[in-house]
Amino acid sequence: MPHAQMHPDTPVQTPDRLLRLLLVGAGGRGSTYAGYAVTTGRAEVVAVAEPDPIRAATALERHADAELFADWRALAERAPEADAVIIATQDVDHVEPAIRFAELGYHILLEKPMATSEEDCRAIVAAAQRTGVMLAVCHVLRYTPYTQGVKEIIASGRLGDIVSVEHLEPVGWWHQAHSYVRGNWRREDQASPMLLAKSSHDLDWISYVVGKPVRKVSSFGGLMHFRPENRPQGAADKCLDCSVESTCPYSAKRLYLSCLGDPDRERWPLGAVTEVRTVEGVEKALREGPYGQCVYACDNDVVDHQVVNLEYEGGATASFTMTAFTPFTHRKTRIFGTRGALDGDGVRVTVTDFVADLVPGDEETIVLGVDGPDAGSGHGGGDERLVDSFLDALTSGDPTRILSDPATSLESHIVAWAAERSRHTGTVQTLAG
Ligand SMILES: NC(=O)c1ccc[n+]([C@@H]2O[C@H](COP(=O)([O-])OP(=O)(O)OC[C@H]3O[C@@H](n4cnc5c(N)ncnc54)[C@H](O)[C@@H]3O)[C@@H](O)[C@H]2O)c1
Repeated sequence: MPHAQMHPDTPVQTPDRLLRLLLVGAGGRGSTYAGYAVTTGRAEVVAVAEPDPIRAATALERHADAELFADWRALAERAPEADAVIIATQDVDHVEPAIRFAELGYHILLEKPMATSEEDCRAIVAAAQRTGVMLAVCHVLRYTPYTQGVKEIIASGRLGDIVSVEHLEPVGWWHQAHSYVRGNWRREDQASPMLLAKSSHDLDWISYVVGKPVRKVSSFGGLMHFRPENRPQGAADKCLDCSVESTCPYSAKRLYLSCLGDPDRERWPLGAVTEVRTVEGVEKALREGPYGQCVYACDNDVVDHQVVNLEYEGGATASFTMTAFTPFTHRKTRIFGTRGALDGDGVRVTVTDFVADLVPGDEETIVLGVDGPDAGSGHGGGDERLVDSFLDALTSGDPTRILSDPATSLESHIVAWAAERSRHTGTVQTLAG
């Protein structure tokens, strides 16, 4: 049974010592979480497992006293004294370390998706349950002030019973090209389907907001645009050599060179392309690596648009759309209840009360979140608060500080696989009650 969760703002006692963390995978996400943990003044990183020498060196600059290992297996072999491990390797490399570190008795902060198959997710959850360790899957959107505000409005009864939800994930045209056409999540066999790689956040978020389990799922979608047959006449394999690059919305040259001089965009997306922040460095990476490839000449197969329809226990329904072909901006949600409706843009919500707001203009608009693009602002504050909640759970020993227990995380992953089965077979999937 999912546990009742503590509000993330409820204070916990300060520990009498620093919490000790292991970091497995000092890439983009791992460094971010470890960095936040240390910044709180409540934790230290005592060991890092990272095979990439540049990333390892950067991690050691930040965590000077940490012991370095070239692989998580060597770290597990040594098993230093610590409270928890952050596992932030790539999707296919979650299952083995998650099970091993659970067996060793470490609490775990695990990046999403938990794993790339339903079987592996179940194995991770079973390992956490068997060993009694706390497992926090990084559903960062649950932790944002925006989400907590939406939850409070629903809990207050202002909307009545939720009947319908409409949710859009605007991936963003250049973000799709960066991560899901050229980048690490472009192929299902090397990462996972888009619903897990990107939209597991959304499927989890909608269920969190509705507060009921999903009973039926259907889905459509596919890879419509980023295919060889859509390649413009005269396009070259590399954007740097391309005669039509200047009119192409997906030009790697325009995207990555324009990051130079902007610290946020140098960190991401440019940080995935190269560590060298010069025109020459970027051009070398675009010439030699995957990020300079024409979007119509990649080996990508993940979808660029997908819809998922959900029916919840009790009959409420939700429709979800992910699409590449949008500005890079916050998710948009409309929630329709029996007493009111909420229209949210990721920062502010407009609430219409069906008793009080008969005349247009009577609705109330409330600012709940922080502005700025999702990734650039740490998922709207969710990254920091997730880490804080995890540290709270470690300090207090209270797993309800973590806003999704392992069984709940597993449920949202199962919904993603059901949607994929529906999309591939043209059937409605029913989930067991
Ligand atoms: N929560 C979110 O919103 C969010 C956002 C982006 C990515 N992610 C997920 O986070 C995870 C990491 O993504 P990322 O962008 O940080 O990737 P990344 O490639 O930057 O980092 C992964 C790191 O793991 C290291 N690694 C590889 N093999 C290893 C081993 N055997 N032992 C230890 N380290 C090893 C790599 O060298 C790399 O530095 C992925 O599962 C991804 O899907 C989540």
